[in-house]
Amino acid sequence: MSQDSRALVAVLGGGQLGRMLAEAGRHLGVDCRVLVPDSDVPAQAVAPVITASWHDDEALRSLAAGAAVATWEVEHVPVQTVERLARLVPVRPAPSVLAAVQDRMQQKRLLDSLSIATAPWAAPADLDACREVLARLGLPLVAKSRRGGYDGRGQRILRREGDLAAVWQEFGPDGLIFERFVSFTDECSILSVRGQDGEIRHWPVVENRHRDGILITTLAPHPAWSPVLQARAEAIATALLRRLGYIGVLAVELFRCNDLLLVNEIAPRVHNSGHWTIEGSDCSQFENHLRAVLGWPLGDTTARGFSAMVNCLGTMPDPLVGDAPGTHRHDYGKRPRPGRKVGHLTVVSSTAIERDARLTALLKRLSDHAIPATTT
Ligand SMILES: Nc1ncnc2c1ncn2[C@@H]1O[C@H](COP(=O)(O)OP(=O)(O)OP(=O)(O)O)[C@@H](O)[C@H]1O
Ligand SMILES: [Mg+2]
Repeated sequence: MSQDSRALVAVLGGGQLGRMLAEAGRHLGVDCRVLVPDSDVPAQAVAPVITASWHDDEALRSLAAGAAVATWEVEHVPVQTVERLARLVPVRPAPSVLAAVQDRMQQKRLLDSLSIATAPWAAPADLDACREVLARLGLPLVAKSRRGGYDGRGQRILRREGDLAAVWQEFGPDGLIFERFVSFTDECSILSVRGQDGEIRHWPVVENRHRDGILITTLAPHPAWSPVLQARAEAIATALLRRLGYIGVLAVELFRCNDLLLVNEIAPRVHNSGHWTIEGSDCSQFENHLRAVLGWPLGDTTARGFSAMVNCLGTMPDPLVGDAPGTHRHDYGKRPRPGRKVGHLTVVSSTAIERDARLTALLKRLSDHAIPATTT
């Protein structure tokens, strides 16, 4: 393919998700160009980066120049920025999607309007209203800032009424919601992609294991996968994709309470619980997101076998420790910092039993070498 025929995709955000989008673009003949407020970002190794504020119109023009389409890899971009960009180049998903999900309260309202089950929630406006919520929903409650949280940041579990004022002081001024604490069987997610022609494809439901609010391990497919579980999750994702007129990859994070699925939150982008798809699915979430936003035919979301993905937090493990044969290593090139997602490892096996054995061995190797991130 000649240089001239390569498509250019503009991406807001240049973290590891942007980096893996750009990597997926390479073999498709798609180039990515990234805009991000910070310097020294993971995507810089594989894509040209414009470093500028989200409010810099000149930078938005540079980002959009020659691009076929724009998208985002992070949902905390100001809606105004995305709307401005949409005047220069088509943005997919549409800016209205960001507006609908960026604020946790709006997102819950969207889910309620589709009769999709969530933990009972409320968005009190003052401390008195908080007391009423507490009386109505009971303890424990999870307090979440309405905007800007990730990896469990911007959250507190409220276990005693006496802590209410402190929680209100911490989150109240910027807006908060309370959710009832869910005693789930496990956490799972479904990733789905919708193309410009309305075609929808779903990857299998996966199980996500967290520690301190941070994703540590994804098992794909979910060990308790069944056609019924898949159908229930697909119905939720399909309703959201259609309502939002969504184009691209959407992640729906779920709490599974035996047979009941409650939506925790939705992420309007490629997602950490879909990293296994790079090696474990016919078409990865990154390739399918590019395909969808470009208006190309979607790739096959079938799983190739049984995968497990382990996040590396803090520092990357030594390859001599982490990389037994068959381990796929992804180093995002980030500076080490406690708790920071700096890379991930994926194993793919032909049976669930072998996958589980490989995962156990991988976690043991990491734990034996005191890799902080993955010691459980
Ligand atoms: N209502 C709840 N009941 C029980 N656990 C919860 C609840 N809400 C959140 N959690 C736990 O905290 C984790 C992080 O919560 P949530 O997904 O809302 O936050 P986040 O900061 O947006 O995370 P991320 O961006 O990493 O997905 C969940 O995956 C779950 O383990
Ligand atoms: Mg989450």
